[in-house]
Parts: sequence; C-alpha cells; structure tokens
Amino acid sequence: IMEEEPVNVNEFRELARRALPKMFYDFYAGGAEDQHTLKENEEAFHRIIIRPRILRDVSGIDLSTTVLGYNISMPVMIAPTSMQKLANPEGEIATARAASACGTIMVLSTSSSCSVEEVASCCNAIRFFQLYVYKRRDISAKLVQRAENNGYKAIVVTVDSPRLGRREADIKNKLIVPPLKNLEGLLPNKFISDGGSGLEALASGTLDASFCWEDISWLKSITNLPVLIKGVLTHEDAIKALEVGVAGIIVSNHGGRQLDYSPATISVLEEVVLAVGGKVPVLVDGGIRRGTDIFKAVALGARAVLVGRPVVFGLAAKGEYGVKRVLEMLKDELELTMALAGCSSMKEITRSHVRTKHEQHL
Ligand code: FNR
Repeated sequence: IMEEEPVNVNEFRELARRALPKMFYDFYAGGAEDQHTLKENEEAFHRIIIRPRILRDVSGIDLSTTVLGYNISMPVMIAPTSMQKLANPEGEIATARAASACGTIMVLSTSSSCSVEEVASCCNAIRFFQLYVYKRRDISAKLVQRAENNGYKAIVVTVDSPRLGRREADIKNKLIVPPLKNLEGLLPNKFISDGGSGLEALASGTLDASFCWEDISWLKSITNLPVLIKGVLTHEDAIKALEVGVAGIIVSNHGGRQLDYSPATISVLEEVVLAVGGKVPVLVDGGIRRGTDIFKAVALGARAVLVGRPVVFGLAAKGEYGVKRVLEMLKDELELTMALAGCSSMKEITRSHVRTKHEQHL
C-alpha cells in the first residue's frame, strides 16, 4: 500500500501514533500534570500576528545563520530528546544523519539510546551535547570529557530538571526505560520503580537536585567547550546566566514536561532577549510546528529555534527520511513565510514584523 505522505509537520504525529506502542507514543507526546504548558507552547504562537511588508525583492532568500560561529542552513536545530531507539531501531544515528543532510546542528541527549561515540562516528553533523548533572558528579564530568574528545562543539546543560516532572501517562503505562548507552557501566542498568514510571525511578535515583548557580563554574572548569544553559524562563535568571558566563541561553520549559503552568516559551522569549542585550545568542524551543512559528521567534529576538517532538515523530513514522522531511518542511515553510512577509534574510526579520496579543487593538 502507498504510505501516506504528510504535507506538514503536524501530520507526522498521527503517523507516529500508529507506528508506536502506546507506552512509547505517550512518553514522546505527553507533558506534565494538566499538560497546560504543553498546550500553551503551541497555542501562544497562534496569538502572534505577522505584519508583512510589501514590494521588497524576495526573489532570493537566504535562510542561513550562525550559532556560536557555526554556519547552519536555517535557524532550526534538533533539540535533545532521550531514548530515540524507542522510535526507530537506528535511534539517534538516523537523526544525526538527517541533521547532517539538512546542514544543521543536533543536540544529543545524555539519555540517548546510541552512545556519544556512535553518534560522533556515523556522520559529520555538527553536534552539541546535552548534559544532566547527576549526584555522581564524576559521571557527568566523564560524559563531558567524552563529548569533548569526540568532537562535540558545546555543552548544553539542562537546568529545569532537579527532579522529573510528573508525567501521568508514563506512571499509568508503567514506562519501561531501556538501558541508556551513555551510562553503561556507570549507573546501575535497572532501577526499581514502585510500579509507576521507570523514568521517574531512574531520575529520582540519579539527578542532583542540589546543582545550583555556583556549580556552573565547576562545569566551566572541567571543559574547554562553550556552555549553554537550557531552561531559562525569566529575565532574572537570564541576567544570572550572563553573570556566570554562559555562551548561550535556551529559553525552554522542556516541552511542557517539567513544571506545568510555566509560561509558554514564545511568551517569555522577548523578556529574556531584552535582558541579554545581544551579549550571547538566545535560542528557544517548545511548540515550534510551522515556518511561521520560526519567523515569529526570530522576530522576537531568537537566533534559532530547536524542535523536539516533530523530529521524534518523523523518526517514528519514517526513520531518517522522516526526520529529513520534517526539517525540509520547516525550512520550506520558513522560506515562503519570509517571501510573503518581505524578508530576504534573517537580519531583515525584525521586531516590527510581529504583533503580540497585548499590542492588538481593535
Ligand atoms: C525531551 N526534552 C529533553 N530535554 C533535555 O534537555 N534532555 C532530554 O533528554 C530530553 N528528552 C526529551 C524527550 C522527549 C520525548 C521530549 C518530547 C522532550 C525536551 C526537549 O529538548 C525540548 O525542550 C522540547 O521537546 C521542545 O518542545 P517541542 O519541540 O517538543 O514542543
């Protein structure tokens, strides 16, 4: 039978749902508690309107940009998402190859199902490494060293997860966590759950809830790589992040999987951008599903966006090809949006190209 070809990124979700066991689909798709933040991440984009400019020469459009000096073909990167072999047997290797083919950066999760080394040797994608800080600091230090030795270009430290958010679908489904390749021989492979989410058992046994601002200096002291901080949602914390010397800030609420009723990321992006004042690049993730979403994020000051679920759904539906299609669709949509809004390069997308809810008058 002919497989259905999606026409937009959202359509991969249903294909993924059909392709995956319920336990794994729910793990990928779900959020914390009421899933308010999960829904708001997407819905807040719908409240932002684009102010197009006319009669500009848009016969040639340049989507490229740079992040930490690395050229990428478009302002879209791959967010770190864990355990990708639950979506497809090739796991993170397929995702890395798609990133490489599309000329963008992949952020590899600490909790990946392929190792740091396997992903490094499968293709020449530009890779960053996402770090969780464990109670066993030596394990996190070792992971950073392995990333550095294997040509990863930056450390992305995730700071919104001192504990795991309460994901009720995973509790009901008694989510089973497969062995995490990066932690083989470092952490026990089996965590005894009390009958609920296996991930919750793993997280509460290992994550260091005492990790705090002072420890960012420790992290910087053990690596030569630039450190980006992922999970900033306020101007206060953006300022602190600058003070401790991060190389970049990712505005993120972990795709609505951690603190429910934290704000939609696009609604706080500008607050962070204004506090940062151009000193380091600001990236954003959460709810990016359309080229127009990317345009809005860039207009509000993001250097680039990251996508999580769409990539995982593309991977689940069609493997490496699916991830490639997701990235290409976002790129094509962004290019068309720019043409119709009168912008032919990233620097031509300005604050005046969007109108947010509180600026709307009847
Ligand atoms: C994530 N995210 C995440 N973040 C992180 O820092 N380390 C991780 O291991 C994971 N794992 C993970 C698994 C799954 C299945 C999802 C959906 C998300 C969060 C991720 O990096 C990103 O912040 C969000 O996914 C962005 O929101 P969207 O694009 O999924 O709406």
